[in-house]
Amino acid sequence: MTDIDIKKGLAGVVVDYTAVSKVNPDTNSLLYRGYPVQELAATQPFEAVAFLLWHGELPTDEQLAQLRATERAHRALLPEVRAAIDLLPTSAHPMDEVRTAVSVIGAIETAGITNVLDAVGTPEENLERSIRLFAQLPAIVSYGQRRRRGLEPVESRDDLDYAANFLWLTFGEEADDVVIDAFNRSMILYAEHSFNASTFTARVITSTLSDIYSAVVGAIGALKGPLHGGANEAVLHILDEIGTAENVLPWLDKALAEKRKIMGFGHRVYKRGDSRVPTMKAALDTLVAHYDRPDVAELYDALESEFVARKGIYPNLDYPSGPAYNLIGFDTLTFTPLFVASRVTGWTAHIVEQQASNALIRPLSAYNGVDERHIDGYVPDTAAVEVLERPEEAAS
Ligand code: COA
Repeated sequence: MTDIDIKKGLAGVVVDYTAVSKVNPDTNSLLYRGYPVQELAATQPFEAVAFLLWHGELPTDEQLAQLRATERAHRALLPEVRAAIDLLPTSAHPMDEVRTAVSVIGAIETAGITNVLDAVGTPEENLERSIRLFAQLPAIVSYGQRRRRGLEPVESRDDLDYAANFLWLTFGEEADDVVIDAFNRSMILYAEHSFNASTFTARVITSTLSDIYSAVVGAIGALKGPLHGGANEAVLHILDEIGTAENVLPWLDKALAEKRKIMGFGHRVYKRGDSRVPTMKAALDTLVAHYDRPDVAELYDALESEFVARKGIYPNLDYPSGPAYNLIGFDTLTFTPLFVASRVTGWTAHIVEQQASNALIRPLSAYNGVDERHIDGYVPDTAAVEVLERPEEAAS
């Protein structure tokens, strides 16, 4: 066993090709279909980036108009989805609501397909399903926040683009342009990040020829964890715990003495800073100015500079996005569902890519449990089965 090279957490393992995005930690760059994410965030509406991830090219004006028309046509909160969410306690975590909602949509969309082989869908069908999921998630996420606040859902506004409508759905009032712009940028930055844990989960599920909804439901489950998407929510908890910039030093002394992980810092791939952070920090700065909340920036800067100085571990995207979403007015519990609404574009692009050149994802494991043993008194009822010498890992 000692000579087996276990890649714990699959760290450093390259498992497949992807043309969806490229992460280069050495140059601190993240490209979606070749475009630097910072350029996309500065110039594109989120719908155009979704199109890019699905089709490989930015849309023409006509293609963007077509996508927007389809997206607008599918924005409604389905009654079945609302009914399923309403069955959950209002104290349920919103990631559980979103996961349930996507599962319900999947059951509706694949109803009547009795041969499991047919549920997988063609690439064209799965692109259509992807657009519908993308269109439906804002109503689901915003309903979660409104339900917790005892508010009825509001109707979508056909005159508003995706980001503006998302804010309208959540708050029931038109957002200022600066807020829409910061929110749009955050959605673009969260949309895609190669073989992260949730995307890989989606690809594993897809590799079994399961359907796109099952893959997205699994991805949502992976994203919920605080080592992945749940970190943006956890960031707000620690910022709340610290309170003000003056408290950073004593708080950090204690947290590090207790060997706590500081949420929003560190990354499996980026070890010298997350390429998305400067863009999101700039968006946070515009929100700090807009809402006149210099205290937020002071606390942010104080924790960042002290933690980086002590540990050499840099912020990841969740660090600026957490306080940005808080300033916009989202509940802390809504942060990770916002990530779902964005990342569904990347997940579905990967699902379609996986389907196009599929191989069942099934790694091996090295057994380190007890040696073979037998039930006392058990006597095989037929001639002893010949036990063949075989590799340590048998096919399941
Ligand atoms: N706070 C404190 N210490 C941290 C840390 C953090 N946020 N991130 C990494 N470290 C330390 C680890 O404790 C470990 O120290 P050790 O060698 O003394 O044991 C070392 O840095 C390596 O960390 P490790 O967890 O092995 O790196 P990883 O590549 O497996 O993990 C994360 C990456 C993201 C899981 C990790 O940085 C983390 O838990 N961050 C906080 C959660 C978060 O923000 N997640 C969002 C990611 S986008």
